[in-house]
Parts: sequence; C-alpha cells; structure tokens
Amino acid sequence: MRKKIVAGNWKMNKSHQEGMELLMQVFKLVEEEEILLEDTEKKLPEIVIAPPLILLSDAAGLIQAWEGKIAAQNCSSEKDGAFTGEISASMLKSINVDYVIIGHSERRNYFNETNQIVAKKIDRALENNLSVICCIGETLAEREAGKEFQIITKQIEECFFYLDAPTLKGEKDDGSLQGGELRMVLAYEPVWAIGTGKNATAEQAQEMHRYIRSVISGKFGKEISENISILYGGSCNPQNAKLIFSQTDVDGGLIGGASLLAKDFVEVIKEAIL
Ligand code: PGA
Repeated sequence: MRKKIVAGNWKMNKSHQEGMELLMQVFKLVEEEEILLEDTEKKLPEIVIAPPLILLSDAAGLIQAWEGKIAAQNCSSEKDGAFTGEISASMLKSINVDYVIIGHSERRNYFNETNQIVAKKIDRALENNLSVICCIGETLAEREAGKEFQIITKQIEECFFYLDAPTLKGEKDDGSLQGGELRMVLAYEPVWAIGTGKNATAEQAQEMHRYIRSVISGKFGKEISENISILYGGSCNPQNAKLIFSQTDVDGGLIGGASLLAKDFVEVIKEAIL
C-alpha cells in the first residue's frame, strides 16, 4: 500500500523558541492519538515537518525520536563553493535531514526557479540520499485557459523525467544511494489554492492526482506509479482534509497555514489515519 504522508511546511514563520514549542505541542497531541490507536489496526500517516532553516539542526533529533521525519524547505542546485547564503544538500544530510521540498510555487514565483533549476536541485538531493518532495501545480490563469494538464505534464517531464527508475527507487549501486523506499514524493499544489483559503475540490484533486499517476506510469512503469505518494497542498485544513484525503489517488497533504497551529495540524494528521 502507498505511504500516507502529512507534511507541515512552516515557510518563513516561527522563531527558534516558538518553533521548538510548536514541535512539543504537535508531538504531545500525536502521542495522545497513538495511545488511542494502540489496540486497533489503524496507523498514523508519516509525519513530516519542514521548519525554517534555523530550526533544522535542533529539531531533527527531536522529530526523529518521535518517529517523524524532518524536511528542509529548499536546497542549493550547486554542490558546494562560493554561493553566499546557500545551503547544499550535503550540508542538510550532515545534520540528518530526511526530505527536501523542491519546486514549491513560492520558490518558483519569488526566486525565479525554473523546472531546470528544480531538476538540478532534485539531482543534488538524490545524490546525497535525501528524499524529495517535489511540488507541481498550475496557476489560476493556466487553469482558466484549460492548460492545467499541459502545465503539469511539462513540470513533471522537465523536473524529473531525466531520472531512471532505479534512481527513483534508491536502488543505484554506486554507493551514493541506498536501496529501499521510493526517493520521491509529489505534491500537487494548485498555485491558486496556496494560502488563499480556496482549496481545490476533492474532485479536482482526484482528477489531477490520477492524471499525474498516469504520466508517471507512462514513463517509469506501474510499480513506481502505484507506489509514489502524491500529496495535495493548498488551503488544506481540518475542515476539508477528510474529503480530500479520502480520494483514491490522494495520499495525504502538504500543509502550510494549518501546520502553524498544533491542534489544527494534528486534526489534519488524524484525517489521514488508515
Ligand atoms: P497553505 O500552503 O496550506 O497555507 O495553502 C500550502 C503550501 O504552500 O505548501
């Protein structure tokens, strides 16, 4: 069965102290849920937290002790060198980061990240044994022009069709990648839904997620397309998560605003219990 994942993207919010407090609150509530699930067959989704950079190092051990995963919100497309202000994938690995979010629409919009830059970042992440949460999504204008499938196809093709199936599966035997789980998670985040309070309907999400899976299947085959987790992101909250997460091809969510309040985030996590 595909892995369910709920990831909280804190973006540029929370001081060090506020962030550590939020983590404590989240995992205290998660622990209460775990106790309730103890004698059932049900399982919490994988919980991923993407705090700002200043928290990564201190939060990593804490989150992992709670069996959660920690994600960086970005990494450099370069390996190392004179790139003032940048953080490389190998540096993230050196503090035990698990995932990197790559290609978020805010990075594409405000920092001019093209699909080509996203592809380079994915390369850096994978060669350092980091898993990737790759974000794709169309703008409102693109959807209104009926171009959403075209845009999504282009993003998928340009961001990671150059990879091969063994790399995605983490199976390359050159010492740089470990075997095991798929190294890529996708997040479908329609740009018009991010931070706007206007989420995609469950039908819109399901339609696009199914389409994305079919594109992946065409290139990498059924095994990968059936096993890759595709998260929905964009104004997902405790009110709408249940319906969205119940769709066949939706495997959880990438949560922005609602991940900044422990209670809301854990309510969303609860909607992904299987
Ligand atoms: P939002 O953000 O939940 O605040 O819309 C989602 C995201 O940008 O990942």
